[in-house]
Order: sequence, then structure tokens, then C-alpha cells
Amino acid sequence: MSQPRQILITSALPYANGPIHIGHLVEYIQTDIWARFQKMRGHQCWYVCADDAHGTPIMLRARQEGIAPEALIARIAAEHQADFAAFRIGFDNYHSTHSPENQHFANLIYSRNRDAGHIAQRTITQAYDPVEHMFLPDRFIKGECPKCGAADQYGDNCEACGASYSPAELKNPRSAVSGAVPEQRDSEHYFFRLRDFETMLRDWTRSGSLQKEVANKLDEWFTAGLQEWDISRDAPYFGFEIPDHPGKFFYVWLDAPIGYLASFQNLCDRTSGLDFAQFWAADATAELYHFIGKDIIYFHALFFPAMLHGAGFRTPSAIFAHGFLTVDGQKMSKSRGTFIKARTYLDHLNPEYLRYYFAAKLGSGVDDIDLNLADFTARVNSDLVGKVVNIASRCAGFIQKGFDGQLAATLAEPNLFAEFIAAGDAIAAAYEQREFNRAVRDIMALADRANQYIDEKAPWVIAKQPGREIELQAVCAMGINLFRILIGYLRPILPGTAADSEAFLQVAPLTWAELATPLLAHQIAPFKPLLTRVDPAQIAAMLAASTDDLTVAAPAAAPAPAVAVAPLAATIDYDTFAQVDLRIALIKDAKLVEGADKLLQLTLDIGGETRNVFAGIRSAYDPQTLEGRLTVMVANLAPRKMRFGVSEGMVLAAGAGGKELFLLSPDCGAEPGMRVK
Ligand code: MSP
Ligand code: ZN
Repeated sequence: MSQPRQILITSALPYANGPIHIGHLVEYIQTDIWARFQKMRGHQCWYVCADDAHGTPIMLRARQEGIAPEALIARIAAEHQADFAAFRIGFDNYHSTHSPENQHFANLIYSRNRDAGHIAQRTITQAYDPVEHMFLPDRFIKGECPKCGAADQYGDNCEACGASYSPAELKNPRSAVSGAVPEQRDSEHYFFRLRDFETMLRDWTRSGSLQKEVANKLDEWFTAGLQEWDISRDAPYFGFEIPDHPGKFFYVWLDAPIGYLASFQNLCDRTSGLDFAQFWAADATAELYHFIGKDIIYFHALFFPAMLHGAGFRTPSAIFAHGFLTVDGQKMSKSRGTFIKARTYLDHLNPEYLRYYFAAKLGSGVDDIDLNLADFTARVNSDLVGKVVNIASRCAGFIQKGFDGQLAATLAEPNLFAEFIAAGDAIAAAYEQREFNRAVRDIMALADRANQYIDEKAPWVIAKQPGREIELQAVCAMGINLFRILIGYLRPILPGTAADSEAFLQVAPLTWAELATPLLAHQIAPFKPLLTRVDPAQIAAMLAASTDDLTVAAPAAAPAPAVAVAPLAATIDYDTFAQVDLRIALIKDAKLVEGADKLLQLTLDIGGETRNVFAGIRSAYDPQTLEGRLTVMVANLAPRKMRFGVSEGMVLAAGAGGKELFLLSPDCGAEPGMRVK
């Protein structure tokens, strides 16, 4: 094999003000697969990331929770890392932009650019909240759309009619923080002179390592003209104070990408022999790649390389941008239950499935990718369970029973084995080019070929014929060897299944190079099922658990939701509302109701008292998945005699008449009988 490459890989740094969701995971899974592939190929490869911990939204969220921003970002950092670990995202380091390393590099990169004359200073006029004593970012100003008049629109564009405008054009503007009418105030700001770097950026664009879509975008921006970039913000701000300008802070997007350097420095500090300069100095020989979403290309392809260059650091070898995730063809949506948090997914499904599905869909371009839930179920069940794992389960039993777990000493079909190894070059090339969909297609074609081999040899027939023991062992050992190659090829995508398979095969972690050497006269462990089928009920439960926002009423001119929302009812006074006794109810039992295809019969416990309720949620739920869950019920509704019995209350549900009805799920900590207010 040729010289090992030195490669540093990053994913974009997730904001520390919210949970990881399956949209984010497109990126972290994509990057992780590529990093694992490079490592398996024997390269010296490092994958680093961090939380993006600065900025106004984080400051305000901490204030809202009544905690210090440091406490908020510490909590979110722990949550993010637990989610990433569960999805087996194998970071070599996970750091924070709110760190001493990052402050050091932010100051250094800023001051070098300043000293080289790339920072300008100018007074600008901005919206100011006189109650909170702070300048307001565009997204914290709300008002009526200047085009269509829709209420409650944010400072830069209208969700109702799609118009974009400047915050100054909003009618009846209000601060989203305090509700006060914003004033216009002057303030001194600092700007990065991006235009100084036009030639350098044009050269970098033409270096050939950028995706065609990204290079085209850059050309558009060059044509439109490069603008100065405002890198400062006024106090109060959660971030780094600008060294020579007390009271002014670096804008979060200045220090965010510098977080890549900070995280790597932090890794170098605790890894002997790892040299920061080899990866970041202007003459660095190592490769540097940033995986990002298509929404943040501008920052990574213009500002970041320019700032690095201006400060005497190297520029990235390439930026790899990907598209956005849609679920069943639409933007992720809380009301449809498709805004799925990483944690909610993990409560219901195996992370290996999502890794496989994204890999099967991901190419090297910036197209959006769709998670089609029916397709997800079908592919996981047919490819992973039905094809790959099946090869091992069809052969392992015979080896265990007849031969004490010992594989044959020679290969039954050396040609077939060689064919599988030869296919590895194209698979490796597909991984290298981030054409994971192509790699998966090739691997599944091999899995079909392996199953075909087993079908032809029919070990279950041989096993019944005395005197054919040697043949049986050889055929099954051949099957196990083909399985081993497939798991090796899938290893970057399925690290958990690969680890379980390595335990079953009793081998060290597989590398690409050693796949060509078959396992002969080798002892394997008893087979345990490696992956189970996806049950559609798990998907339904995951969607139900993701629907937490049904009570939010749509504003008058909001875009049409996919599920028809009934017009809002007339208002009621508080006393009328207070008469409704809402209680947390534990679903002790859920049964089908004979002769009523829309109903389920629920036995509800509301803290010592049991209620029998008939609910029209049959089409959305398999009764078994409901038992043990909490919901909210109206406990003082007059009992109603129905054809099937007396219903003693109602459960809260929502959806389009009889079709998609979802129970509301109270958060953990709720107890049966608690009053809901
Ligand atoms: N904090 C910035 C990145 C700073 S990098 C120096 C940020 N954070 S983010 O949490 O909003 O997004 C993190 C990454 O996830 C981004 O690359 C973003 O494009 C990606 N995605 C966020 N939502 C996504 C989808 N729905 N689909 C695919 N990728 C998505 O941006
Ligand atoms: Zn509008």
C-alpha cells in the first residue's frame, strides 16, 4: 500500500442551544463514515468537532432558564455527546468554542488580520431594545410583513408570503425579547475586508477540489461583489471580548470555524507526536476537509479561508457540502411528528439502521436527501436483515453443531472469494469519492451473490446426508468468509454491527488490507442474531413521541399545514377553562373493540382511580404499544353510554378526523392523577 496520508476531518459545530435531530445526523453520519473508511485504509486520520457555544440565542435561552450561559452550554454539551456516542459518531476529540484554545486562536487570527490592514472600523445604525438595553439581531425583531401584512413575522423574511426585506421595513416592529418598540441607535463596528482576498479566493476556487455546485455558488458571489463582513457585536453578548475593544465582542461566526483549530489543538495537547503545525501551518502537508450543510457554504468557502490566509495559516484542501434532510418528502415538522430528535429515535430504533439508510442515499453532491419511512423499513429489513445477516445465520449453526465452531482449513471456492476481493477496489473508490450510495449498491450485489451461492449448495440438504461432513464444513466456512468480507466493506457504515460480527468471528477489528486473507481453520463463537427487523409499530411510536406541539395555534396567515387544522373555536374565559379537570392518566390496558374499527378501549389509571374510556385512535396505534404510556384525559366529562359500554372521560388527541390521531405524551416526571393546568 502507498504512503499513509495525514488527514484532518471536521463536521460543522452544532449550536449549543438545542438538541441534535435527525437532520444534523445526515452530516455527522456522513463524516463519520468517511473518517472510519480512511482509518480502515490505514491512513492517519483525525476527526474533530465541538459545540458552537456563543451568540445571542444562547445568551437569551440561558437567561430564560434563569441559569448562566456556562451552565446551559455544559448541559447541552453533555446531551450532544451522549447522542453522538449512541449513534457511534467516532470523534477523536469533541471540544467547545467557549474554550481557552479558541479564545487564543480567535485573538491571534483577528490581530494578525488587523495588523495586515484587513479590519475596517465604521459606525452603523441598528435596532436597539431600550428595555433590555441591547442591540437586536434581525431575528429578534418581529412585526407585520410590509408586503402581505401577516402578523408576527421575523426581521428578515415573511413565512406567510416569502418576501424578504430589511427589519426597518417591518410595520409595527417589536423586540421579540421585551416587546418594546425598537429604537435606532449608532454603534462602532469592526469589519473584515473580504475584498482584499478576492484573488486568493478565486485561485482557491479554481484549485479543482471544490464540488461543482460549491464552485458555481462562489462564482455567483464573486459576480455580485464581495462585501465587508461585520465581525463585532455589542455587549451584552455571550462570546469573546475583542482584545483591543472592551465592550465589543467577536460575532459568533468569527470564532465558530476557528473552533476547528481549537479542538485540534486540544487533541494535540494530549496526544504525543501529534503536531499542530503539520496540519495548520501555511506550508502544511496534511489534508484538511470540512463537512458542512449547504446553508453554511458562504462562511466556510469565503470568510474562513480568507481569515486563515490573512493570518498566515493554510486553507482547507476541500469543503464537502451536503443537502438537507426531508422526511417523507417534506421539511421536518413538529406538527407532523417528523421533527425527530436523535434521542427520540434512539428510544425506538437501532442507530445502525439510520446510518445504513443515510449511506444508501448519500452521494457526493448537495442534493437534499429524503427519509421515506416506508422505504427505510423495507430497506433495512430486506438488505441488512434479509441479505447480510442472513448469510451468517444460514451457515453458523452447522459450523457450531457439527464442527465445534471450527472453520474449514481450505477455501471451497477460491474464485468466488477472489471476485469478492476484486470488487473491493470499486467500493473503496466509491467511499473515497463520498459516493456511499454506490458503495452500498455494490456491497448489496455481493450479498445477493453470497446468498445465491448458499442457495445453490443448500447446506441444509448436505447436512442430512451422512458422509458429506467435509463438504458441509467447507460450504458453510465459505459462506462465513463471504460474510466477513461484506462486514468489512460495511464497517465504516455499521460500526456496531461490525464490532458484534468481529466478536462472533473472534477476530481483531477488521482493516481493509487484511480482508484479502481468508479465515481458515479458525474458531468462531456461537452465532447470536446481529440485527432484528424494523417493526412499523416502532416507527409509529417514534412519530407519536415526536409530536409535542399540537397545541400551538397557527397564526392567521401561516403557510397551509399538511394536516388540515380546524378553525379556532370562540374564546372562553378562565373560569370556564378551570372547570375542565385534565389529569395525567396511565394507560394500563388497551384493547380492540369488536364491531368498532375506529375505537380502542382504554383502561386508564388516574392515581388510584380507574376509568374505562373508548377512544377513536385505533387507526394510529397498535394497542400493545400504548400500554404503560402516559396521556392526558378530561376526567370530569359526564359518562356517556355507547353501544359497547360506558365511556368515563376522554383522552386528548389531535389530527385530521379519524385518520391521524395522536395521544399527547406528558414528559417524564408526570404521575397518574396529576392535575394538568
Ligand atoms: N453552528 C453552526 C455551524 C458552525 S460551523 C463552524 C450551525 N449549527 S447547526 O446546529 O445549525 O447545524 C450544524 C450542521 O448540521 C450544519 O452543517 C447544518 O447544515 C446541518 N444541518 C442542520 N439541519 C439539517 C438538516 N435538516 N439536514 C441536513 N443537515 C442539517 O449551523
Ligand atoms: Zn408576507
